[in-house]
Amino acid sequence: MRLAGALALACLTACGQADDAYAKQSGLAPEDLKSGYDFLQAETQALQDDDFANPGFLWVDKGDALFHASEGAPSCASCHDGTDQDLTRAAAHYPKVDDLSGRLVNLEGRINLCRERHQDLPSLEYESEALLGLTAYVASLARGEPMSVDVSGDAEKYYEAGRDYFFLRKGQFNLACSQCHNDNWGKNLRGDTISQGHGTAFPGYRLEWQDFGSLHRRLRDCDAGIRAEPLPYGSDTYTAVELYLAKRAEGLPMESPGVRR
Ligand code: HEC
Ligand code: HEC
Repeated sequence: MRLAGALALACLTACGQADDAYAKQSGLAPEDLKSGYDFLQAETQALQDDDFANPGFLWVDKGDALFHASEGAPSCASCHDGTDQDLTRAAAHYPKVDDLSGRLVNLEGRINLCRERHQDLPSLEYESEALLGLTAYVASLARGEPMSVDVSGDAEKYYEAGRDYFFLRKGQFNLACSQCHNDNWGKNLRGDTISQGHGTAFPGYRLEWQDFGSLHRRLRDCDAGIRAEPLPYGSDTYTAVELYLAKRAEGLPMESPGVRR
């Protein structure tokens, strides 16, 4: 008993130190962690809060239908509804390294792996209505769940690549993500209040798009905003940034389908 107690204590301190190290790399004090939701106007918050008014639920509903349809192959639901492979909460742990290929995949990538490996169907194009719908549906099953991703082992190098991109100055304005989302959150920029740049609302609906989109679409807008060349949808670098953001947002609840300005 005493030995087990001592071990537990040792682990607690070690784990605490590891968490401090990640908090430091995030540039945000854990007690300051705030969702982008907190920086929205009340009307936009109200849209997100009301499942009937939130336009994102159109995509969740489309995804729900696709998830239960068979398309000449066993449906997603046939493997995932009420089985060992239940997907409740899964989205809060993505991106994740795929055991078979050793590659980092986000939810979109994971869904496409199931299409190819388990359904013998072609992968869906990034940002297609079908992939957005399925991603929205799976993400919605984890709504309210605290973000918690694994960045150890094989995931570590992706975490580091994502972090490096976050602090890299680039574009005509020579700005890094960190300069807005760590150093200037709470300040105004072109009619927006800069948030901490968490990805927890995505895939989500943006009023500016009049459309629903992935986190990569949001990141492309931020890169374009500083006149840097946006990376392609589904790029490994954006997926690594997605992992870094997920670790940085650890403990914040999943909000997808979020509504943003
Ligand atoms: C010039 C400042 C600026 C830079 C640099 C910038 N962003 Fe943003 N970003 C914004 C603004 C403004 C918004 C919209 C309001 C907000 O912060 O949620 C935004 C939104 C976001 C959001 C959505 C947050 C939410 O809750 O809806 C994410 C995620 C994000 N940025 C990540 C990034 C990443 C990653 C980078 C670097 C590749 C980056 N941003 C670079 C200004 C910036
Ligand atoms: C024939 C069974 C089968 C079908 C059909 C299937 N999957 Fe899967 N899915 C799996 C298995 C098994 C895993 C675990 C990883 C692996 O072995 O590939 C998995 C893993 C996942 C995960 C990751 C879960 C986690 O906790 O990490 C998601 C998300 C997912 N599937 C979504 C889908 C979606 C969406 C569809 C339909 C487009 C689908 N799957 C179709 C069997 C299936």
